[in-house]
Amino acid sequence: MDSILSKRSVYAENSILEEEREVEKLEKSGKKIIEINRGDPPVYFPTPKYIIDAYIKALRASETGYTRAEGVFPLIDAIIKRYRSKYKLSLKENDITVTAGVSEALNFINTILIDQGESAIIFRPYYNQYVTQLKLSGGVPIFEDYDEKNNWDLNPESIKKTLASLKSRNRLAHTKYMLITNPNNPTGTVLSRGVLKEVVDLANEYSIFLISDEIYDEIYFNKAKFTSLCELAKGIPHMILNGASKDFDATGFRIGYSIVPENDKISSEIKSKMADMAKVRLCVNTPAQYALAEGLSNLTEHKKAIAYMVKEIEKRVNSATDILEENEFLQTVRPNGAFYILPRVDFKSLRIKNDYEFVDRLLKEEGIFVTRGSGFGAESHIRIVSLPPKNILDYAMDKINYFCKKYAK
Ligand SMILES: Cc1ncc(COP(=O)(O)O)c(C=O)c1O
Repeated sequence: MDSILSKRSVYAENSILEEEREVEKLEKSGKKIIEINRGDPPVYFPTPKYIIDAYIKALRASETGYTRAEGVFPLIDAIIKRYRSKYKLSLKENDITVTAGVSEALNFINTILIDQGESAIIFRPYYNQYVTQLKLSGGVPIFEDYDEKNNWDLNPESIKKTLASLKSRNRLAHTKYMLITNPNNPTGTVLSRGVLKEVVDLANEYSIFLISDEIYDEIYFNKAKFTSLCELAKGIPHMILNGASKDFDATGFRIGYSIVPENDKISSEIKSKMADMAKVRLCVNTPAQYALAEGLSNLTEHKKAIAYMVKEIEKRVNSATDILEENEFLQTVRPNGAFYILPRVDFKSLRIKNDYEFVDRLLKEEGIFVTRGSGFGAESHIRIVSLPPKNILDYAMDKINYFCKKYAK
């Protein structure tokens, strides 16, 4: 035996964190590093006090044991109310499974849907975990590209071609789902309603299960309008993913949820298996479930907190984008949602081999830690997290511009 490890364990990696050791080393040697690699809002926006108070209250009420595996009823009820008031959706308790973040929901989805060698359609650039989790389940991604020339929106014509080709090759039955992200990490795009509708119609025509990761569904700006998949997919099998991490500024709570609103055969099978998966791992963090229930229910406090956060993020993203636009070696599509910027880099003019080298040199020479685009299926790009205060972020952008000029000489 060469190694005790399974073959699929090779896929257990995370490009966002891969330079962390290097950062630790640099910091130990006294260098100051600006880390704009990880989308972790509580680092810059403390989790709202009313949510923390609810967490502590649950602890004091001895809510410290296992809970109902699919999620405590106060949280399930709060999710039902949110979707009723926001989208006029009538959900039932068993439509919802509470998970340890969207991350765990992704793990459940791939475990219950993917047999060895089967596929899912993943849109590129993608949030890196989609591909990792699919591969860890033995799956093979089929990539479809978001259209960079059209604000990184979906491209229905190209999706139709892919679906038709899969059908003609008898691969459609082994292509288990199509996964979109709205608003998007890493592009910051908010998908347009019209194009989203076309994609919903295609999913219906080709009978492919559609999943929308809407974890940033309250973080959009620059006059963008967000449409949830559940508004357009009535009567069509689909799933919405969401959670506490971004809108509720509580990444460390590790709480997310999946919603399957329809009751057709596919939807019923999926939601029942999601619940079975929840039972396998017993439950998720108990006080955090009560804290998110409060987050979702206390609309007055939530509105205040999210309005402040979005206003700040809008300022920070726009200012950083303005500075990057001065850089002739970068091409940046202005983001309208989430808090990421994904500039295309002209590595050739900089005589830098690729995104790995760019990230490594920028870190070691300028103390700015960004993420390589190839981790998201975008090897000509780098990803910037625009959460630090404006003066720090602007300084980091100036450093990136300085770095590019230095290499272009
Ligand atoms: C699009 C997207 N989905 C899911 C996640 C992970 O979410 P969670 O913290 O709920 O596991 C992230 C985290 O950055 C994300 O950007």
